[in-house]
Amino acid sequence: MAQFDSKTVKTIGVYCSGGDAPGMNAAIRAVVRTAIFRKLKVVGIMQGYTGFLEKHFVPMDPKSVANIIQRGGSVLKAGRCLEFHQAETRRVAADNIRSAGIDAMVCIGGDGSFTGADLLWQEHKLPIVGVPGTIDNDIFGTEHTIGFDTAVNTALDAIDRIRDTAASHDRLFIVEVMGRDSGFIAVGAGLAGGAEDIFIPEHPFQIEKTIEHIKQSMARGKMSSILVTAEGQKPGRAYDLAEAIRKHSGFQSKVCILGHIQRGGSPSAYDRLVASRLGSAAVDQLLRGVCGVMVGTRGEELTVVELTHCLKQKKHVNRALIELAQVLSN
Ligand code: F6P
Repeated sequence: MAQFDSKTVKTIGVYCSGGDAPGMNAAIRAVVRTAIFRKLKVVGIMQGYTGFLEKHFVPMDPKSVANIIQRGGSVLKAGRCLEFHQAETRRVAADNIRSAGIDAMVCIGGDGSFTGADLLWQEHKLPIVGVPGTIDNDIFGTEHTIGFDTAVNTALDAIDRIRDTAASHDRLFIVEVMGRDSGFIAVGAGLAGGAEDIFIPEHPFQIEKTIEHIKQSMARGKMSSILVTAEGQKPGRAYDLAEAIRKHSGFQSKVCILGHIQRGGSPSAYDRLVASRLGSAAVDQLLRGVCGVMVGTRGEELTVVELTHCLKQKKHVNRALIELAQVLSN
């Protein structure tokens, strides 16, 4: 694990990067209040890596994070900064951080954000600790990412509502959830929502079994079904699935793409708890002189994993949960 001289740390920077996630504000609050409790100064960096380049830095005090624990989004904003892929851009960013007197940073975000953080450490020796914040839950080295629990509950609420109308009209619905190329939200919301089947990007559609399953349900008098699919690389995968089902069976389906509503809203209690613990732990790691790592969760415990390790490995969805959804919807 990378080490640096933590005695030099007087001011900590904190930023959110990538897509926002419910609970990011709770994490910011934890970073700011822990750092101030430990007699450090804190600077908020606005809009992720864009703020590094535009020198958009704001001093933070305990009051600046009052009344935000319950709010979705990020008071520091978030965002993806494509220029950061260039080494020269990162050099400018590092210079700006140093001239602002920021000695170490906490990065709240997903794998793209951690790639930037890792490069800033490798190339410019800027000490950074990562806090996993993404609704996708696709970061290796942590069981939970901030925002995942809320997003699953938002999707679940939508599925429950769709089930009412699906049952009234005897319809087949396909609900598409976010997650980019990972299926964690789909599996969580699908299993908890009693879906007949769940489709994840990690595996191609295998619809024969699904169609057979729907036919058997119909033979028993159950005339409505809900299938949940993850979006995959591009939103709209549910339409491809609907078309494949129509071709193979003649069944018509209704498609509902949940989209960005899954990113908003007040964070769940669980997301707030995890965010508070991880935000605080990130500051403590920096004060121990540890950087280039992510703090994460494993059961009730917190873990510390090297960023390079998190970025190299892929976190896999538990496929047994998909089979369980199929069995339980029989
Ligand atoms: O990574 C979080 C996420 O919400 C993904 O699930 C989704 O594919 C992506 O971000 C959407 O990104 P954007 O808001 O930039 O379109």
